[in-house]
Amino acid sequence: MPEQVPAPAPPAQPNVVLIGPMASGKSSVGAALARRLSRPHVDSDQFFVARHGPIPEYFAAHGEAAFRNAEEHIVAELLASPRPSVISLGGGSVLSEATRARLCRHFVVMLDVTEEQALARIGDATTRPMLKADPAAVWKRIYAEREPLYRECADLIVEAAPPNIEARVDTIEKELPSR
Ligand code: S3P
Repeated sequence: MPEQVPAPAPPAQPNVVLIGPMASGKSSVGAALARRLSRPHVDSDQFFVARHGPIPEYFAAHGEAAFRNAEEHIVAELLASPRPSVISLGGGSVLSEATRARLCRHFVVMLDVTEEQALARIGDATTRPMLKADPAAVWKRIYAEREPLYRECADLIVEAAPPNIEARVDTIEKELPSR
């Protein structure tokens, strides 16, 4: 009789994964939340840069499809971390169906932001190749396209107000599954 291989044990606590539009505060809220929870913080964009170099240069050399493919692989690696972490994802990560399926096994927080707040943070957009052509118009179009995906994946939606980092961390901490 073949030996039964036990299924891998689920992590004791799920990862907390922050998703949302560009300039919604995923990196800064993620870092503050990780400090609060004494967990590591990882950011898919930073991980991407460490592995492949700056994002604008990568887009220019390889195009968006290659970026999405590499991003999907990086997100899969980060989500598979055995140590419960806070993980901030690039705004376009949810475009991948495989990533959306993987997110079901984690506690996913959508950070929302108003158009005015996002544009004030984005500035000249040189670090965000998706916005290069016309930051305000493109941000708005992309937000409209992706908002249903963010909402579909989210266990918790942190509304745009208050924009204060610690207040947003308080909201997330209160809603976390038993810690
Ligand atoms: C992108 C968002 C960026 C970065 C890349 C593409 C997007 O991350 O991954 O420039 O398509 O929304 P942030 O959401 O952290 O700006």
